Amino acid sequence: MKRQQEVGAEFLPQPISRRALLQTASAVAVAGIVGGHGFANASSNTPLAAAGQSKSFPDKFLWGCATAGHQVEGNNTSSDLWLVEHLPESIFKEPSGDACDHYHLYPQDISMLADLGFNTYRFSLEWARIEPEERFFSHAELEHYRRMLASCRENHLTPLLTYSHFSIPRWFALKGGWQNPAAPDLYARFCEKATRHLGDLVGYASTFNEPDVPQLLSWLNLPGVNFTEVFESGLGKVRKQINAPEFANFFLGDGKKIRDGVLAAHHKGRIAMKSVRSDMPVGFNLAMSDDQPAPEDSHLAEKRADVYGPWLEVAKQCDYLGVQVYSRSIVGKKDLPPPKGAEVTQLGWEFYPECVEHVVRYASKETGVPILVTENGIATNDDSRRVEYLQRALAGLKRAIDDGVDVRGYVVWSLLDNFEWMSGFDPKFGIVAVDLATQRRTIKPSGAMLGNIARRNSL
Ligand code: BGC
Repeated sequence: MKRQQEVGAEFLPQPISRRALLQTASAVAVAGIVGGHGFANASSNTPLAAAGQSKSFPDKFLWGCATAGHQVEGNNTSSDLWLVEHLPESIFKEPSGDACDHYHLYPQDISMLADLGFNTYRFSLEWARIEPEERFFSHAELEHYRRMLASCRENHLTPLLTYSHFSIPRWFALKGGWQNPAAPDLYARFCEKATRHLGDLVGYASTFNEPDVPQLLSWLNLPGVNFTEVFESGLGKVRKQINAPEFANFFLGDGKKIRDGVLAAHHKGRIAMKSVRSDMPVGFNLAMSDDQPAPEDSHLAEKRADVYGPWLEVAKQCDYLGVQVYSRSIVGKKDLPPPKGAEVTQLGWEFYPECVEHVVRYASKETGVPILVTENGIATNDDSRRVEYLQRALAGLKRAIDDGVDVRGYVVWSLLDNFEWMSGFDPKFGIVAVDLATQRRTIKPSGAMLGNIARRNSL
């Protein structure tokens, strides 16, 4: 039987026995969670213990952690983003480098997450590794991902596999990325090859992570940041620096053309996956905010139609919808800044855990398909805030489930502190800390707490 993992226990970047791990754990941390009750008791003063409410989640509920290849693997050198990160005038704060070296350390990361109590792991393929040059498919890299999936199965984890999480092969970007009329067919060919090699081990497949995120960002209103401008000027700079007039990727390019390309790629990719394994559940992961109307001049309906509209339609033909939500937006003409005095997280997003409940209710009502929460969490250096955030988010999720909303799982973003795209390594989303110099992993209290909930399948 699996033993509970200690808070503060460090994972070394080489094989380490469970016994050794238990011996190195701090006595204080052990005292806090012995028998798996520490956090259960700690939660008795929280909204989780609402009087008279059953605390159990449905049978077979999926409890997981998420990562994305480029953010954790390291050395994704054939990708578009590696190229952009290393330009002299990069829009990235720093390059991804070795990231969390998850490419090599996945066996211990996966067993760590299983030991914590989770039954699900969401991760992504790097198309740039699998097809580093057009039409050259690497058997060795496909085998790498097959080993990752097998490792999930050995650890009794259901793998949720994302086929595309923002990064793309460099050759594909140089040809115009998703704006290239051939993009949907090129993507479908990759989906077909990957499914042929990996499909039998997949739990749930996703064609795209957050295909709506460029539109969502265009509604954002963060002090001093206009994402549309950042991306437009970024595209010009990149094209000039690499002398590639066609270069475009997931973020850099013409938003409308990218959306049309990704929509078509989703359809073709899904058909390609199903042609290989018709019973594989296929969906995608939608970025959503808990949109609330401003008292005056709210464009909420317009925002929803613009950002989610086409994707909610597409979701109706899917086996499930992955919902990814972090906060709320009060929508006026654009999103308004967080209310004065509101607590904000490292990325300036309002601390608003109730967003999960509100968004799953909305997404389920609009689509009628089963919902998986495939990302939720906060960027903070203060893990006690993450603990509170997750407790309140789950209490809300439970209320929605009790009211009959068909939610099949909850996956936290993220397993590891990782490469937060343009913001580099500063934002800390992980339930496990990573020392980038040594690659040591240290489980945070939020990781132990969430793992305990997962193991009990109950708040
Ligand atoms: C993305 C992740 C990202 C997270 C936090 C989501 O938009 O899927 O890759 O790290 O949010 O920003």
